[in-house]
Amino acid sequence: MLTKKMQDALNEQINAEMWSSYLYLSMSMYFEDQGLPGFANWMRIQADEENMHAMKFVDYINERNGRVLLKPIGAVETEWKDTLTVFEETLAHEQKVTALINNLMDIAIEEKDHASRSFLNWFVDEQVEEEATVNEILDQLRMVKDNGNGMFMMDREMRGRSAAPADAAE
Ligand code: FEO
Repeated sequence: MLTKKMQDALNEQINAEMWSSYLYLSMSMYFEDQGLPGFANWMRIQADEENMHAMKFVDYINERNGRVLLKPIGAVETEWKDTLTVFEETLAHEQKVTALINNLMDIAIEEKDHASRSFLNWFVDEQVEEEATVNEILDQLRMVKDNGNGMFMMDREMRGRSAAPADAAE
């Protein structure tokens, strides 16, 4: 049985993950509009992954016999200055999500909820990977700067991202 404090915090995280999905879908649509289909593809897959994260929380609360309560999803930005700005914002957002996951882990420790600690470990590892991936993209973007050829090549590379295999979501 989840404590009320743990359940409330997990429900908040569903909202944060859904908002992340909405943010990345908006970024994907921005890239579509900019004629960067590879970047649009990358962000769309990112949006799908965030939705998968939200569903992991949904399933976990249900497994623990808790109650999922869905809240309104806040508005997201629709325009950015350039590609670099989008990824700087993505990194800042992922750092915020990492802090939220750490806070959830703190609550699980406080509440002596070992099952939630075990569940949250997956997200702790995932955040390390997410921040590293975005940092790598940022490094490349800073190297490419405004070079048209470089951006073309990078967009082609971003097109290669495919959805994570189902077992990676377990
Ligand atoms: Fe669900 Fe990108 O953190």
